[in-house]
Amino acid sequence: MFNHDEIRRAAQALAENKLVAFPTETVYGLGGNAMSDAAVAAIYAAKERPQFNPLIVHVGSLEQAERYAEFNANAKKLVHAFWPGPLTLVLPRKKGCALSLLVSAGMESVAIRMPAHPLAQALLKESQLPVAAPSANRSGRISPTESAHVKEELGDRVAMILDGGPCKVGIESTVVRAGDDDITLLRPGSVTPDQLEKLLGRKILFAASGDAIAAPGMLASHYAPNAPVRLNATSVEKDEALLAFGAEVPPGAAVTLNLSPRGDLREAAANLFRMLRQLDARKPARIAVMPIPDMGNENALGIAINDRLKRAATPP
Ligand code: TXA
Ligand code: MG
Repeated sequence: MFNHDEIRRAAQALAENKLVAFPTETVYGLGGNAMSDAAVAAIYAAKERPQFNPLIVHVGSLEQAERYAEFNANAKKLVHAFWPGPLTLVLPRKKGCALSLLVSAGMESVAIRMPAHPLAQALLKESQLPVAAPSANRSGRISPTESAHVKEELGDRVAMILDGGPCKVGIESTVVRAGDDDITLLRPGSVTPDQLEKLLGRKILFAASGDAIAAPGMLASHYAPNAPVRLNATSVEKDEALLAFGAEVPPGAAVTLNLSPRGDLREAAANLFRMLRQLDARKPARIAVMPIPDMGNENALGIAINDRLKRAATPP
């Protein structure tokens, strides 16, 4: 599926503190050596990202992660159930650990995850470095789920772009702060609150939206296309582009893409960012989005999708 020479060159670029974009199962990441202030600063610069926004550190193994963060019993349970995979844990930084302070944006905690994508795993294994990687888009824009999107967003601000095809999950990882006595969901994703509660046998807390300290990256406006976004549309105007969901689609839009004609939320998540990009490229007056169900455990992924859509609809 991929070429070893390319992985070696990418690992070499990371070792030289250059930036490498790579696929994960969620979205494409913009990777840099998480131990290097220069590399992490280059990530912020390439994304034009506000400096107070901390980054996720990607690792190839739990053993490696334990060099940088304190794993309590809850964190270990989560790791065993969901790693490698789309779950990020926010944990206390290990005292004196080698990670750049910039990845934590001045906080005592660090966000860590072990991605499941084989190409990401091959890169992490080859480089043996902890890799800081936010989504590979300019700050505030739609996250990339294909290598072509990364090229569009970052062009030559990145030394290499590894192509692993379209991302299977399509929305960013679930972010959870795992304390000894409290588990807080900081960002919804495809690992659902119900799954977390079942595994840990306790209720989880939800970070208040806009809670700057809990989830500093969760700016209210994010994932924004250029066109304004109108949510919960049940009818459309002829100058609007329609992002549909399910079998019953209102007629009359200038252009329509359907997240999932059969109403499947996994399919919808995987298509979300690509279709937003495709509709935006048509320069419509607005992007109208049909309602996506998010009540009940069977629709838990809808919470994550609606979270992203709400941010896309918030003007910068
Ligand atoms: O799926 C993903 O998580 C992708 C792929 C590339 O792995 N990465 C990603 O990174 O979405 P980014 O930087 O776009 O989002 C990081 C999220 C932000 O919401 C940020 O606030 C939160 O993680 N975060 C990072 N470090 C944190 C910390 N120490 N405390 C609280 N939240 C933190
Ligand atoms: Mg992002």
